[in-house]
Amino acid sequence: MCGIFGYVTTRAVCAGTVVDALRKLEYRGYDSWGVGIGINGHISVVKRAGRIPATTPDLPASSIAFGHTRWATHGGVTDVNAHPHLDCTGQLAVIHNGIIENFRKLRCELEADGHRFRSDTDSEVFAHLVEQILAASEAQDPETVVRAVQAAFERIEGLNAFIVLHYPTQQLIAVKSISPLVIGIGSTGTYVASDAVALVGLAEQVHYLGDDEVAAIRADGLHLYDRSRRAAREPRWQALALKSADTSLDGFPHYLIKEIHEQPRVLERIIREHPAQARELAELISRSYGTFLVGCGTAGYAALAGSYLFSRIARRHVNSVVASEFKYQEHFLTERSLVIALSQSGETVDVIEAVLAAKRRGARVAALVNVTGSTLDRLADFTLPLLAGPEQSVLSTKAYTAKLALLLLTAHILNGSEHVGLDLLWRAVDGMVRALTPDFQDRVKAVADRLADHQHCFVIGRGLSYPTALEAALKIKEVSYLHAEGFPGGELKHGVIALVEPGVPCFVFSPLDETRADILSGAMELQSRGGWIIGVSPEDEAVFDVHLPVAEVGDASPLVNVIPAQLLGYYLAVRKGLDPDKPRNLAKSVTVK
Ligand code: F6R
Repeated sequence: MCGIFGYVTTRAVCAGTVVDALRKLEYRGYDSWGVGIGINGHISVVKRAGRIPATTPDLPASSIAFGHTRWATHGGVTDVNAHPHLDCTGQLAVIHNGIIENFRKLRCELEADGHRFRSDTDSEVFAHLVEQILAASEAQDPETVVRAVQAAFERIEGLNAFIVLHYPTQQLIAVKSISPLVIGIGSTGTYVASDAVALVGLAEQVHYLGDDEVAAIRADGLHLYDRSRRAAREPRWQALALKSADTSLDGFPHYLIKEIHEQPRVLERIIREHPAQARELAELISRSYGTFLVGCGTAGYAALAGSYLFSRIARRHVNSVVASEFKYQEHFLTERSLVIALSQSGETVDVIEAVLAAKRRGARVAALVNVTGSTLDRLADFTLPLLAGPEQSVLSTKAYTAKLALLLLTAHILNGSEHVGLDLLWRAVDGMVRALTPDFQDRVKAVADRLADHQHCFVIGRGLSYPTALEAALKIKEVSYLHAEGFPGGELKHGVIALVEPGVPCFVFSPLDETRADILSGAMELQSRGGWIIGVSPEDEAVFDVHLPVAEVGDASPLVNVIPAQLLGYYLAVRKGLDPDKPRNLAKSVTVK
């Protein structure tokens, strides 16, 4: 989940360049940051726990430097555990994304050989391992160092990406397994990053490093090697397609509220630009024998909603599986299966692993993904871009409703009722606009005021609204730290109701569909125990203590009904003085298991 960036330039440039690039990667983790600069015969390291400072620190100029922004896995959030990590000589440093699964054993061996560790991280092992392998060889020529990095990489287990800065040979060496690294070449030098977004404005051509490659970046450019044959190979350069993304706040105080407000426009874009590609996806589904929707977190809830949509609209059984659980079900995959992977970032490692499992079994892979050029986009046989634009807030909002829109449209195409699907989506655009009016937001703010001092709340929905209940609970808890639990309305009496005491807030999703009577009787059961009922519904009902009136949009209700929950999460966070864009412990792109 960490962000990685490095450069080797022909003339010394200010190492603040690294910090500027890290800011673009901070969504990958914001526990700590650090920079390593090759200067005056050694590697100078500046690293700190906490967020990257708003003003770039004064750093010296150098022709070789790299940096890292961390999401902590092994070792607490401290200055010492921030990357880069030096070896004992101070001539070699490492930045890392991933988890070295066998790091304990390696660390014991290295300590027994006299290596002194400074941090509690797994990452530092790699610096000492390369040092040990290098010490055993006499030569210190660039190629020897590359071979040492490669040999060290072969000894570690897990999905990892490393960059080694070796001062004596003035090179960065990059190697990876699954975790992405992209190398860019520009007029002033050669760059490497965990995400192409950090290369915008620096590089014109990029090469996505393969798992079977190792790269050495030197003043004369990129030297690429085949990992198994250890022979040189040609990079596959391609133009960097990304433009400098529009990441302005557009007058909003936070990205979260800006992105919530962007949803009607994203939906319009999908309606106008995507029917043809949705038809291709429908065709893939109709030709498959066994379709699986996979995703994590919010994307996993979109997958679950998709299975309801395909069932009720297209009368088609489409499985939905949480991506991290998929490997325990992959036995059902055949060459006729289709896996549809849902992901905003396209980098979520559990999703990537599910896709690789599908590919190993010869299944086809389609992706609904927001980030073009991401690992998922490159792995999939067919990609349907979400067209949501950059999602800067760590919370996923517009990418969620974009996935729902595409799944709803595809289900209608399969059913031969594309025009009905498009009409529903237009109604959802209007419904979203209504849920974003100042008047509606004031109602949500009033609920946020009453909720702020509570410790728990419950969210129920049935049928299509069950995934909405799960997503609503996630939106509330991840940003406001109020414990919210979503569950199917019918499950109330089977345990959870024991937690309901007088005054406990209970959200009830009650669209005007076949779930209405049952969900309202569930609401009454909660109210009888003193639950305070907040109803999200087109109609006010006697059981609601508070009514949040949403538009009636038929099967598009999940797209509209989630908005009050997104707003509630936002207003609760603001009221509590929390950062709505960067909740604690989270990262935008979850690239570790
Ligand atoms: C919640 C959230 C996460 C992501 C999940 C998958 O607001 O953002 O639950 O949905 O980590 O991320 P992607 O969609 O990038 O695969």
